Amino acid sequence: MLSAADNELLTRTGPDTPMGQFFRRFWQPVALSRELPENDGSPLKVNLLGEELVAFRSSDGVVGLVEARCPHRGANLYFGRNEDCAIRCVFHGWKFDREGKPLELPNVPPGTHYQQTVRLKAYPTREYGEMVWAYLGPDPWDRPLPDVPQLEFGAVPASHRFVTKKLQECNWAQSIEGALDTSHFSFLHMPAPHVPSNENEDAPADEKRLRWIRDDPLPRFSILEHEVGFVVGGARRADGDRRYWRSAQFALPSHSTTPSTLPGENHFGYTWVPIDDHNCWIYTYAWNPERPLTEDEVARFKRGHGVIAEVDEHFIPIRNRANEYLIDRQHQKHISFTGVRGVAEQDAMIQDSQGRIADRTREHLSASDAAIVRFRRAVIGGAKALVAGTEPAAAEKAAAYRLRSGSWMASEGTSFEQVMLERFGDMHGRVTQESYP
Ligand code: FES
Ligand SMILES: [Fe+2]
Repeated sequence: MLSAADNELLTRTGPDTPMGQFFRRFWQPVALSRELPENDGSPLKVNLLGEELVAFRSSDGVVGLVEARCPHRGANLYFGRNEDCAIRCVFHGWKFDREGKPLELPNVPPGTHYQQTVRLKAYPTREYGEMVWAYLGPDPWDRPLPDVPQLEFGAVPASHRFVTKKLQECNWAQSIEGALDTSHFSFLHMPAPHVPSNENEDAPADEKRLRWIRDDPLPRFSILEHEVGFVVGGARRADGDRRYWRSAQFALPSHSTTPSTLPGENHFGYTWVPIDDHNCWIYTYAWNPERPLTEDEVARFKRGHGVIAEVDEHFIPIRNRANEYLIDRQHQKHISFTGVRGVAEQDAMIQDSQGRIADRTREHLSASDAAIVRFRRAVIGGAKALVAGTEPAAAEKAAAYRLRSGSWMASEGTSFEQVMLERFGDMHGRVTQESYP
């Protein structure tokens, strides 16, 4: 449970809010690179953290990101001209470079101070992992900036990854809480109760894994903190004295990786980017560190598969809030627990259903919510510390974001740290402390 004040602090990310300021200390994905396919091409509307922005790929290929409203009389620069590494308002021709400095103010008489005082708000960008990232923090043009977080999907060759995004129609925080709560798999993504584990065509895991997950709805959780967040592991009873471990990473302020990957399988991760307080983008990526993705895998990801939602050309999920995720009550009765097709869509339905902003003052947390408590402590604590003048150290530690998570079998009594070392070596994060909430 959170106080009403902490729920507000957690969920509000506009420019003048503590969490909004905290987010702005970290690089944020603002678009997929392929949404800006050509130099001097069409500008793109970008809504981010409550700000209305416009992105444009300049003549030299670098992406500019500026506020949408022209400082003359507020015309929208989305309708502007993308020309000569600058954006020009088509109302009266005011033209600005990528840093927001005026290059031409044709209707302003010479000798006025406008050349010195008029500025368009503008943010630096980088491209990493086929995404455009932006830095919305203070003084971005006047100092060296930290690197973009070196998430592993962006470091592998392009043939080894698939990158996309989807709209999520609720507040960012409850959506990432859904991902960090790996206990819900025992229900939300399961076959209907009377359907055997090996008779569900929608199931994203094999029969054994499904059976272990289904038969143990109370995994024992452990958390290992590291420099940029934490990794949570849930141990379930498996066959004999074996334990089936599933681990998920959280990295500040809003990245996570999924728990199901066994050795050799593809990894999946997400980055949540608030659009406003009622909607967010979930940038979603699949990668394989050892081999290129197969044509068949890429084709399936493009159609929507597992944690990758089926989306239209604007990245809006086909099964969404407005059409009740095309829930099929007969399917729910006879085949799957939810009646909704797709793991990503099942997650979206239930996260949206908590309300546009979940009311955390009325909840009753349980032992399986350990990672949620830790997540809130990390981001609320970080935002409060920033208000008190302490910058988040993780924002400067780009290399520490190269993290993995997934599944592993271990004998009873094996510690979570040992499980992670056996499974991932040093890729699980440099551990600073072990704790059992
Ligand atoms: S409103 Fe943009 S130049 Fe006039
Ligand atoms: Fe899920």
